[in-house]
Amino acid sequence: MYILGVESSCDETAAAVVKDGKEILSNVVVSQIDIFKEYGGVIPEVAARSHLEAILPVVEKALKDANLTWTEIDSIAVTHTPGLLGSLLIGTLTARTLAILHDKPLYPVHHLKSHIYTNWLGDQTPEFPLLALVVSGGHTQIIRMTAHNHFEIIGTTRDDAVGECFDKVAKILGLPYPGGPSISQAAKNGDPKRYHFPHPKLTSPNRSDHSYSDLDFSFSGLKTAVLREVQKAVGKSISFPSYELKNLLTKEQVADFAASFENTATDILIENLKKALERYPDTKSICLAGGVSANDLLREKSRTVFLPDKSLSGDNGAMVAAAAFYEIESGVHPTDPYSVSLAPRSAIDRPLGRGKPKAYSPLGRYNFS
Ligand code: KG4
Ligand code: ZN
Repeated sequence: MYILGVESSCDETAAAVVKDGKEILSNVVVSQIDIFKEYGGVIPEVAARSHLEAILPVVEKALKDANLTWTEIDSIAVTHTPGLLGSLLIGTLTARTLAILHDKPLYPVHHLKSHIYTNWLGDQTPEFPLLALVVSGGHTQIIRMTAHNHFEIIGTTRDDAVGECFDKVAKILGLPYPGGPSISQAAKNGDPKRYHFPHPKLTSPNRSDHSYSDLDFSFSGLKTAVLREVQKAVGKSISFPSYELKNLLTKEQVADFAASFENTATDILIENLKKALERYPDTKSICLAGGVSANDLLREKSRTVFLPDKSLSGDNGAMVAAAAFYEIESGVHPTDPYSVSLAPRSAIDRPLGRGKPKAYSPLGRYNFS
């Protein structure tokens, strides 16, 4: 089965063709990083406009690289949540139009699900029950899966995501966006033990929904601790964000801050993952997923787990196609291309717009009953 996966949830316009959820025939990613480097972060309107320009050529190239025509494509999968609304809109509108035009079943896919399914694109396949540590720019969660399409969030961040924390700390240190790779680069020459940052202690329930899990994360305190320590080092109480700080820090200080921060952030992730493993001793596989899973130190500290290929850690279309393949395998119905739900936020364990399959489709082509 050939699935075309389309991804546009943030600042990467991507499309890929994957055969049987495993074999990547093409994987085209156009990144907007160069545009946002100078702004220090993503500007949603600019991202949406860039997606609009890139998406059709990216899809066309994905088909061409795979050496396939539209007739050979079995299904189309597209990210519909979570992400930047304008960005999601371009990807879903494109996928919906193509599904109608070429008469293909359409599968809207949750972005975190796609990140997890990157682990099925490797040589080996994870086994259930599994724990997935999902670490991206917008999320930090530990998810337990007992079967395809069965997700239970057992730990989540109360505030910032770890990738967001990398990006903010990079800004404090005057390092370019995205913060993850630039912090890792700077940390190479740094001393990870020079600065000591506290690990969060979560003893009270989550303020937003009163849930409590000692597997939860908190990263905003770590970012503030770095800022305080930087202020101490330069002897000034400059507020964040400030482009002044970077001129006051020596190269050696930046490297040591980057290394100490990276060491603490990855320790916090691994600590909770170990706790989760103790809690669920029947776990057969542990998977890393999301942009931060490209981090070398994190990969080194989690040697025994499934690691997505580094080239697939960030956003791409192949993971969307892989996730959709296992949806199809699990009997999930395609969605009416005329009514695809979008949401900037949504939990992986509460599928969006996946209520009772519609009995009526304006096209009348799909049998939803
Ligand atoms: O999954 P992703 O590409 O997009 C989202 O779904 O958010 O993740 C992007 C995040 C950014 O915050 C970026 O700084 C981080 O992943 N990241 C890294 C590394 N490469 C990307 N964080 C730490 N180390 C890296 N090598
Ligand atoms: Zn992502």
